[in-house]
Parts: sequence; C-alpha cells; structure tokens
Amino acid sequence: MLSEPIITDFDYDSLFKQLRELEAAHPDLVTSDSPTQRVAKGLTEDFAQVTHLVSMLSLDNSYNAADVIDFDRKVKELTGQQTVEYCVEPKFDGSSIALVYENDQLIRAATRGDGTVGEDITNNARALSSIPLSAPFSKHGIYRIELRGEVIIKKDVFERINEERKHQGLKTFQNSRNTASGSLRLKDPKEVQSRGLEAVLYHVSYAVDKQEKNLLATKLLTHYGNIELLHQCGFKTPIKELKICKDSAHVSAFLNEWETKRLTFNIETDGMVVKVNDLKMQEQCGSTSHHPRWAIAYKFAAKQAQSRLLDIEYQVGRTGAVTPVAKIEPVRLAGVTISSISLHNEDFITEKDIKLGDTVIVERAGEVIPYIVGVVADLRDGSEKKIHFPKTCPSCGSELIRPEEEAIWRCDNADCPAQAEERIIHYVSKDAMDIDGLGRSIIIDFVQRGYLKNMEYIYDLPYDEIRTLEGWGEKSVTNLKEGIESSKGRPIWRLLTALGIRHVGVTTAKDLSKHVKNVFEFEHMDAEHLTNIEGIGPKVAQSIFEFFHNKGNIHLLERLKEFRVNTENRAEDAIAKNNKLQGKTFLFTGSLQQFTRDRAKQMVEENGGTLLSGVSTKLNYLVVGEDAGSKLTKAKAIPTIEVLTEDEFLKMIG
Ligand code: IVH
Repeated sequence: MLSEPIITDFDYDSLFKQLRELEAAHPDLVTSDSPTQRVAKGLTEDFAQVTHLVSMLSLDNSYNAADVIDFDRKVKELTGQQTVEYCVEPKFDGSSIALVYENDQLIRAATRGDGTVGEDITNNARALSSIPLSAPFSKHGIYRIELRGEVIIKKDVFERINEERKHQGLKTFQNSRNTASGSLRLKDPKEVQSRGLEAVLYHVSYAVDKQEKNLLATKLLTHYGNIELLHQCGFKTPIKELKICKDSAHVSAFLNEWETKRLTFNIETDGMVVKVNDLKMQEQCGSTSHHPRWAIAYKFAAKQAQSRLLDIEYQVGRTGAVTPVAKIEPVRLAGVTISSISLHNEDFITEKDIKLGDTVIVERAGEVIPYIVGVVADLRDGSEKKIHFPKTCPSCGSELIRPEEEAIWRCDNADCPAQAEERIIHYVSKDAMDIDGLGRSIIIDFVQRGYLKNMEYIYDLPYDEIRTLEGWGEKSVTNLKEGIESSKGRPIWRLLTALGIRHVGVTTAKDLSKHVKNVFEFEHMDAEHLTNIEGIGPKVAQSIFEFFHNKGNIHLLERLKEFRVNTENRAEDAIAKNNKLQGKTFLFTGSLQQFTRDRAKQMVEENGGTLLSGVSTKLNYLVVGEDAGSKLTKAKAIPTIEVLTEDEFLKMIG
C-alpha cells in the first residue's frame, strides 16, 4: 500500500532531526524539496502553531551615525517633537521568543516563526529557570501581558558546553545563536535544560487589565518603565546595560562606547537597539509591515569570524582576469551566511601566507563585501597545503599570462567560453543593455550548448531549437525574443557600457556618448583626443583606444549594427539636458496612461534624476499610474516618500 511507511516513525524523526542539524550547519545545502522545507520558514511540524497577540516585527537596520541622525529626524517629524528621548540597549544575538502571562501565570511561550504565527514551545520555556512560571503582574493592575525577548547562551557557558562535548566525543556547536534556536525546539525539555539557555526580555508588546483595557501608553508610559517592571517581576532584562539618551548626539556617543564594550560583554550581540522611550510617541510613530518606526537596530561597524579555508575556485572574468575565490566553511557574519570570499590575486595569497585548510579570519563591515583579514597560524596542525596558482585557464586550458607590474593572471584566448559567458552576462545586465529574460543561468546554459559564443550571438539565437528545450515554451521564447528585440533600440551609452571596455562604466560611457554621432567615430580617435573629453583620464583613454583598435571588437560592432542594434547617438537619447531632478530618485508603478515606462525612464535621466528599482528609504518620489499595488502600499508606509500622479511628475519637469 502506498501509505505504508517504509521506515518507523522513530527512524524518520531521527533522520529528520539529523537532516535539520546538517542543514543548520550548511545552509547552502538546503534544497527546496527537502522535507524540512514543507512548512513555513522557522516553523517545524513538531510544535503546535500559535498566533502571536501582536505580530513580531523585525527591526530596521542602520550602520553609521548618519543613519541614526536620519532616524531621529524622521521620529521628530512623526511625533512633532523638537527633541526625543531614546533608550539604547544591546541587540542580543539569539533566538526570539514571545511569552504570554495571564492572571500572573505563564500560559504560553512561542518562537517568532514567520512573525504572525510561531511555534508553541511552552513546555521547553518552562524548563528555563530565567523564565518565571508566575510573576506578580496583577500587583501592577496587569491581567494579560505579552513580552518579547531573546533566548541566548552566555559566551562562557557556550564555550564550556563545547568543551564538554569535545570531551564526550560529541560534535561541537558552531555558534550560540543556532544552538539556542535549535535547543528551544528539542523534544525533551530535560535536554533543553542542559543547554545553558537564558531568556532576556526587552519589550512589552501587549498589556491589558481585567476589563481588557489597553495599558500601553495609558498606564505603562515608557520603555524604561517597562524594563524596570519586568526586572521587578523577576525577569532578566538589559536594565544594567540600557541607557536613556536625551538626544541623538548622546545616542551616537553611547553606540561608540559599545563598539568595544561588546567584546567583553558576556552575551553575543550583533548591534544595539535605539528605541523611543515614550510609549505615546512610539504609538505616534507606528510601524510598517516590516518594522516599527520608533526603533532602529544599529549594526556594529566590523564583525569578524573564524572559518576554515576548504578550497579555492579560480574564476575567469570577462576580461580574462583569473580571480582566486576562497570556499570557506559557511559562517554567519553581520546577518548573512558567507561561504565564498574573493582572494583578489596571487600576491594577496602570498602576502597573507594563506594555505588550504587554514583557519581564516573573515571580516565584514555593515553591508560591505566580506574580506579575509588573515590566517590564524597558531591553529595550524601541519596538514595545511600550499596554494599553487594555476598556470593554465580553468575554462579553456590556455596558458595564463601575467604582464609585468600587474598582479593579475589573465587568459588571453578571445574564444575562452568562461570569458564569453561573463561578457554576455555583463552585456545584458541592468546598467548595460538591460535585456529581460536572459538571466545568468540561461546564458551559462546557452554558452554550453554553443548558442552563445559572444555578444552578437544574442541576436541570432536558434529559437526553433530553444522552443523544444526542457523548461522552455512558446511564452518564454516570446518573452526572450521581445527582451532581446527591445535592446536593439537602446541609447549608445548603454552599448558603450555593455561592450565591457576596461575602466568604462556607466558614467564614463555617458561622458563618451555625448561626443560622437555614432560609436564608430571612436575608431578614428587617438588617446590624446580621447583625454580631451571631460571625465576621461589617460588610463581610460588608453583602454578605449585599444578597444577600438582591435579588429575583433570592430567586427563585433559591425555585426551588432547588422542585427540593427543602435549605434547612432540619436537626438532623443540626450542625457541630462538639465539638472532639475539632480540627486532625486524616482520609481514608476501601476499602469501609466500618459507615457510609456521607457519614456518615463528617459525623462528622469534627461533631467538628471535617478531611477530606483524598488521602494526603500532611498526613494524620493513614487509616480503612480492606474491600479498601483503593493509598491504604493509600501511607499505610503515610508513618510519621506512623496507620491506623485503622472501629471504632477510632468509638471515637475516642466
Ligand atoms: S525590540 C517591535 N530589542 O532583533 C520590535 N529586539 O533583528 C521589538 N532583538 O526581531 C524588538 N535584541 O528578535 C528589540 N534589545 C532588543 C533586541 C531585539 C535582539 C531581536 C528581535 C528582533 C530582531 C531584529
């Protein structure tokens, strides 16, 4: 019978648990059809699902003093106050929980889950001595209350647990955050008790009296007051670390203090949280669907982690440059999991004395690209291996060359498939020819099938054959064709960007495009002539000169022209005729009635403005056509975004 299980429930549970642990340690191995992915993110089948009394939102992030000043400005705008008092406290890096007490008794504990629905982990929470089973809330007139906090494992406790596990021959845990969240979901509360978990409470999300009257901002008046209350009721709170700051300057000074203080603080923190102290003002600020507007997380500037260098991959770029990329044991750093990091070039490896199998220190500051700071030579056991930079191209096997005075090894083969792949990926990218429907994986597939040998092949694809490939149908082929067709009419600055001339990005391409009637004019310009163009220095001029004096490149341009790709500088392509919209960002949504989306883009650019692709705090104006949807809703939640009709936009540019 089909429903007959082939293994026992016990075996299934234990395999499932093993898989979950494996996936927690190696998130890059999680596939979408993994049995762990059957339920919403963060929810497992093991626990009953419960709806939080108030949705558990995230926090908006900030990385520097300017972000904090901006946050303060918005809070003042929203509350109409001249100065606002803030509470600043550590942002605990653990697993968040929500506790509900009714009539002084703990009646429910839940994980965050998807923010609306979490897992009921009451039995496990009851095993933690830091979570009081009863608390004297009624003394304060509170009948039902929901608290938010973080379950953490103190740094020294975590180290001790790992020492013991090592002793017992058990696998050590990778980090305290994953261990805390995994432990909260264990089936046996007794085992939960052995994991050294503690709960720190930092927020009251809901409080009512016996008559169900809301007490937040009516009787409970400040965040600090709430923390004091929780402290008095026997909870662990950040009361000792918290500071009341009377303005944003004091906030910044306190954040600075914690940049170093956190290193000796016995709990892992990934930043600080700045909260408006007054609960009435919090209410005035309100929330977006993602985060409250009365709080912001400040992420510490740089964060380091240790990992192991497992392997090195050599990637061939579009100019033939071969970049070594370190494959490391995945580590979580400043909110993301990192498993590969660029090692830049051969000299970088030599200078840092990096060996395969080394313990490496990885650093990532805010949103910045991760970086290998160095290796921990003390942790070497002799099994580490010297890295031998390849002598031949990993893609086509041609001999690599490294010109004197350069740090980069290059593959010089113009037909190298890896280079073609990267060149085409660059050609179709958003800032270049912006071809919809031709993504990275399709390009890789088409290069392998021999359909794409270089950029011009994009315009000569064997559609009849593509139509028959798995995953392709009439509709996707039509979309692809349309995407490619519309790229033929792009302004020449896009083509100049797309060609992948060294040192020529969007800005330089725009500067260049203003000086010619068609791209072939560059064939007749010498480097000196090129340096006369505003914005073009000698290095850039030299590489433009070399590009246009290479027969292969001219042939490519001629072929593109034959395929009717625009090579002329047309009047309608003039960029930034004026600076009316200088420094302003725009996004268009809904169905536009007065102009096409392409024309809208053009108008913004002609007037010196910038187009964004999504709604964020960086957006200044959202222009709405008919039937605008989620973008409009999202924008309305950000007070600094101004919503314009098409007419208002046209008026703006005159
Ligand atoms: S306040 C309504 N305070 O960070 C917002 N959150 O990245 C209430 N977190 O989801 C959250 N320490 O789980 C707050 N001192 C603290 C925190 C904190 C850690 C967690 C929390 C939140 C996440 C956002």
